[in-house]
Amino acid sequence: MLDDDLENIYAIKKESPLVIGITDNTNIIASDIRAILKYTNKYYILDDLEYAKVNAKEVIIKSKEGKIINKNLKVFNEKNNDNSKGHYKHYMLKEIMEQKETIFNTILPFIEEGIDSLEKLPDLTKYQEIAIVGCGTAYHAGLVAKYLFKEIANTRCNVYIASEYRYQNNFLNKDTLTIFISQSGETADTIAALKLVKNKGCPTLGIINVKNSTISFLVDKCLYTNAGSEIAVASTKAYTAQVALLSLLVLAQAYRNKSLSKKEVLQIIEEFKNIKTLVNDVLNKKDLYQKLAKDIYKEEDIFYIGRGLDYALAMEGALKLKEISYIHSESYAAGELKHGTISLIKKGTPVISSATNSNLNAKTISNLKEVLARGANVYLITDEHYKEDIIQIINIPKVNIFIKPLLIVIPYQLIAYYVAVLRKTDIDKPKNLAKSVTVE
Ligand code: M6R
Repeated sequence: MLDDDLENIYAIKKESPLVIGITDNTNIIASDIRAILKYTNKYYILDDLEYAKVNAKEVIIKSKEGKIINKNLKVFNEKNNDNSKGHYKHYMLKEIMEQKETIFNTILPFIEEGIDSLEKLPDLTKYQEIAIVGCGTAYHAGLVAKYLFKEIANTRCNVYIASEYRYQNNFLNKDTLTIFISQSGETADTIAALKLVKNKGCPTLGIINVKNSTISFLVDKCLYTNAGSEIAVASTKAYTAQVALLSLLVLAQAYRNKSLSKKEVLQIIEEFKNIKTLVNDVLNKKDLYQKLAKDIYKEEDIFYIGRGLDYALAMEGALKLKEISYIHSESYAAGELKHGTISLIKKGTPVISSATNSNLNAKTISNLKEVLARGANVYLITDEHYKEDIIQIINIPKVNIFIKPLLIVIPYQLIAYYVAVLRKTDIDKPKNLAKSVTVE
């Protein structure tokens, strides 16, 4: 606002998002159309360095050279965009419970007509390597995909934390496809990493939840996760949607490069069609998660361990717990404990684990016995039927490897949630955290 210009507000877009909402009697500047949906669903999106002069009656948008731009007025009409808490006390619980729908909504277009639908996913066989970049929970989704790309689709894959990736030598080349994962599509470190790859002319793909977000515009191709608005700071339904979509990318890759036969792929697709029932089954074990939460909520240190895929999931379990309950929680590769961390295990330390890989389970159980011997209280999520009465077991249905991560993470999310309830924390808006990290 200028001293002699009290009628207008001037806004410039630089890196962080900027929208201008249009109503019949005024116009509104915001960072996201969702923030102003109760006033309008009509809006302009500004591109970097464009600026606008806005008053109650008109909006004039100009390019950085000062030329007027006639932007297309967008209309926000997203389905699944119920921003109320419904009958839930917290958005986080609502979003966890929604996963039986959101995972299905994400994958349906790629499974409904079998292989033909799967073939709609981009063909990755022309690349020598897949790189995945993200932050926090999105990075953890990337770790699950890395495991599946390597172990099932026999494809080279690496995963990077965006804030590291942007300041290191990534040996960028055109034979590597870099996949950027982000719920918001606005995370500053992920955007910076993406610009680095684009500036070298290398191929990019986005796995994004928020439509029309910065990353969705910048990537060569964007696949939307369709999880609907995620409002709680702790990411839950966006994570499972990311994992589900990435799993289908791996499945398509395994089909195309013949790591899996057509028959195997069709069986997996059939099982995916049943995902609502499977997820519901795990969501319904509320009493078990509440009981476990009651056991551990007064603790100061909690460890999550696992091997392979179960390690990637342990990382997400530990993040969820520390983020909303403020309990120190750490994830460790189970076999790595004896190289230092086991010294922290004392009588009563909770150790939570999952063991869902028949080739590795015996090893994980042996690691659990090591911590049991040092007095730990051990909890195990598994699809096997163990009779270890010293270990408290949460059973999940036996499913194929693509679906496992989607089921194992649910107890982790709900344990974190119920612990936070008992500790009376601000679950949807944990201290020191923001939903969208638009600064470095
Ligand atoms: O919007 P993004 O997916 O890019 O956000 C990345 C992280 O900031 C986010 O996943 C964060 O770790 C979550 N709050 C974890 O629950």
